[in-house]
Amino acid sequence: MKTLETIILEIDPFNIEEEKIKEAAKAICENKTVVFPTETVYGLGANGLSEQAVKKIFIAKGRPFDNPLILHIANIKSFLEYAYVSYSLLEKIEKLIPGPVTFVLKKKKIVPNIVTAGKDTVAIRMPAHPIASKLIEYSGVPIAAPSANISGKPSATLAEHVIQDMKDKVDYIIVGGKVEFGIESTVIDLTTGEKPVLLRPGPIPPQKIAEIFGDIEIPDFAYGHVEADYIKAPGMKYRHYSPDTPVVLIEHQVNEKMIYKVIEEYKKYSNPIILCLREHCNFYKENNMNCDIIGSEDNYYEFAIKLFEMLRKYDGQSEIIIVEGIEDKGIGIAVMNRLRKAAHKIIQ
Ligand code: TXA
Ligand code: MG
Repeated sequence: MKTLETIILEIDPFNIEEEKIKEAAKAICENKTVVFPTETVYGLGANGLSEQAVKKIFIAKGRPFDNPLILHIANIKSFLEYAYVSYSLLEKIEKLIPGPVTFVLKKKKIVPNIVTAGKDTVAIRMPAHPIASKLIEYSGVPIAAPSANISGKPSATLAEHVIQDMKDKVDYIIVGGKVEFGIESTVIDLTTGEKPVLLRPGPIPPQKIAEIFGDIEIPDFAYGHVEADYIKAPGMKYRHYSPDTPVVLIEHQVNEKMIYKVIEEYKKYSNPIILCLREHCNFYKENNMNCDIIGSEDNYYEFAIKLFEMLRKYDGQSEIIIVEGIEDKGIGIAVMNRLRKAAHKIIQ
C-alpha cells in the first residue's frame, strides 16, 4: 500500500484549539482520513457520505468490506436524516446519548452501501467526547469510523498505540489524550420489531438498556461463548482483539487450585505474564511468577480501561499472556466478550 505522510495534531480535549479542529474537519470534507479520540476507543474516521472516503478506511485498517461501519453523528436530529426511526423510539434513544452506545436502525438511501456493507440497516452513534463531537459538528457530515487499529488487533486506547498502527496509513491523527472507557460501544439492534437485541456488549450495561427499552434480548454470542449469527452481527466472524502473543483466559471465579494449575503449566514458558486481579497479585509473586494488576473484584471499570492497553504492552514481550477473568455482570460482560474472543485457550 502507498504510504501517506500522516499529520499529527495534538489537541487538549479540555481546551480545544479551534484552528486545529477546523483543520481536521476540513480534511474530512476533502474526503481524507482522520483518526480521533472518542470516550470508548480511538476511531479511524472519514466522510460517511462519500464512498471514496469510506473506502480509504477499509484499506488503512485492512478491514474486510463485508464488515459494516458505525456512522458517528453530533446531533440527535441526524438519526432522522440517516435512518427510519419513530419519535417514540427516538425519545428512548435520547436517554442514552451522547455516550458509548450504538443503535442499529433501518437505513435511509443517503447512507452509501459501502458504510453498511450492503445491508439495509445502519449503525449510528453520537459520541460524548468533546473532540469527536466538535470534529463531526465542524465537518457538517456524519463520520464513518471503526476502531483505529489494524484489523484483528486490540483496539487502540492510547495515542501511542494509534500511532503504532496507523502512522503513514491515514492523513491525520489527532492525539487527544486517554479514552474514558477503553472498550468499544454497546451495540443494540432496534430493527427486530420485537425486543432490542444486544449485538455487542459495551460500557452501557444491558440492565441500563432494559430500564429504558423494556426487555432486551442477550444472545449467547454477546458473551463471546459461541459464534455469532453473522447476518445480524457481521463483524463477529473475524478474529478480534488478538495480540501476536497467545492469550490464555482463566474464567471467573479464579480459585487457589486454578492458580496453582496455571503456575505449574506456564512457569516453564519464557517470561510468562499474568494480568491478574489486585487480590491475587502477591500470590503469583510469592510463586515467582510475573504479574501486573489489571483490575480488582470491586472495580471492573479499571479492568476495562486497562484491557487493550495491557494486551498491547505485553505483546511480543513474553511467550504467553495469561489473564484472570471477571464475572459476566455490568461492564464485565463486555470485558469477558473481548477476552473470550482474544483467547487461544480458556481454562475453566
Ligand atoms: O466505540 C465504538 O463503537 C468505536 C468508536 C470508534 O466509535 N467503534 C467501533 O467500530 O468499535 P468497529 O467498526 O470496530 O465496530 C463496529 C461493530 C462491528 O462489529 C460491526 O460489525 C457492527 O458494529 N456493525 C456496524 N454496522 C452494523 C449493522 N448495520 N448491523 C449490525 N452490526 C453492525
Ligand atoms: Mg473494531
